Amino acid sequence: MIPPLARQTLMAGAYSLTPLAEGDVSGLLRLFADPAVTEFMDIAPLETLAEAEEIVAWARDMAANNRGLRWAIRRAKSSDLIGTVGFNTLEFDRGRRGEIAYDLAQAHWGQGIMSEILPHVMVFGFDNLGLHRLEAMVTVGNLRSCRLLERHGFSLEGRLRDHAFWKGRFWDQLIYGRLAD
Ligand SMILES: CC(C)(COP(=O)(O)OP(=O)(O)OC[C@H]1O[C@@H](n2cnc3c(N)ncnc32)[C@H](O)[C@@H]1OP(=O)(O)O)[C@@H](O)C(=O)NCCC(=O)NCCS
Repeated sequence: MIPPLARQTLMAGAYSLTPLAEGDVSGLLRLFADPAVTEFMDIAPLETLAEAEEIVAWARDMAANNRGLRWAIRRAKSSDLIGTVGFNTLEFDRGRRGEIAYDLAQAHWGQGIMSEILPHVMVFGFDNLGLHRLEAMVTVGNLRSCRLLERHGFSLEGRLRDHAFWKGRFWDQLIYGRLAD
């Protein structure tokens, strides 16, 4: 039985994770307006609140239909959104797998914050959602993301040539996977 994703909050060490909601729009705009954050992502840097609203609507729809979940990341007791993390896709019928995704505002890189959060998200996936496999797609060149995954037991399984198309061109994607212990 899959829990209703739209209501899942999580304490991840010193960080609180809450499903992206309308109140996160301005924080999300600040986060994704930074070209360094979106460099390897499937979006161009955001310019308007309407663009951030679209992302929140996408996340809310995904959670409402139990197809995925994206949390806002905040330090416990702070109201500032510093990043997002979650599952872009979830497959429960023809597999038991989830694709994880994550980002942090640049000021929070290099401090081990995502390394503190990710194990909690992985446990949530394996235990609460009953997943057998976690995977992540990484754009070639995103070394920080590769290091993060490798530190947490993900294996590089291959390079998918021209797997993605955004910002007017095709992109090779690295696929990482980790199975339940
Ligand atoms: C991917 C991303 C979240 C990784 O951030 P990060 O800060 O490198 O990852 P972590 O939070 O795990 O921090 C690890 C870094 O903190 C350092 N660190 C400091 N204290 C640490 C601690 N207690 N524990 C672990 N690492 C620590 C590590 O040495 C490492 O730095 P290094 O890679 O320079 O050696 C970040 O680069 C990002 O948001 N990028 C933009 C969005 C994006 O590309 N998302 C991924 C799409 S696939």
